Amino acid sequence: MAGDSVDTVELGDLSDLADGEMRCFEDVGKYGIVVCRVAGTLHALEDNCSHADTPLSEGRFRGKMITCPLHGAQFDVTDGSHSGPPAWEGVPCHTVVETETGVSVRLDGSVRDDRSEGFGGAGGIIQTR
Ligand code: FES
Repeated sequence: MAGDSVDTVELGDLSDLADGEMRCFEDVGKYGIVVCRVAGTLHALEDNCSHADTPLSEGRFRGKMITCPLHGAQFDVTDGSHSGPPAWEGVPCHTVVETETGVSVRLDGSVRDDRSEGFGGAGGIIQTR
């Protein structure tokens, strides 16, 4: 599309990626991406914790949440939002298209401004001590 500067990457066939499994693609984007399957649907996040730059793909993935291996921040893989400290914001969540011929990811994710939603209340001000 003319004027469209968003990259799309082809990841090939990921039909072997079952529910509850994730796979990282280190060479995609700035930090790599981690692709996770939840209830049959694939989701792709930037593979980088927003707290202190750690690969989320090295963490634990349960349900729809991925837990950072370093300090335990949790992120919802379906939208990139975080569930609270020590992360202060979510991570980019990209558009995934899966067809019979393979999977493509449009690197269009941006960090959701979820600081005013839920955790932390208005403005996201959280006092931890
Ligand atoms: S680097 Fe992920 S929670 Fe600290």
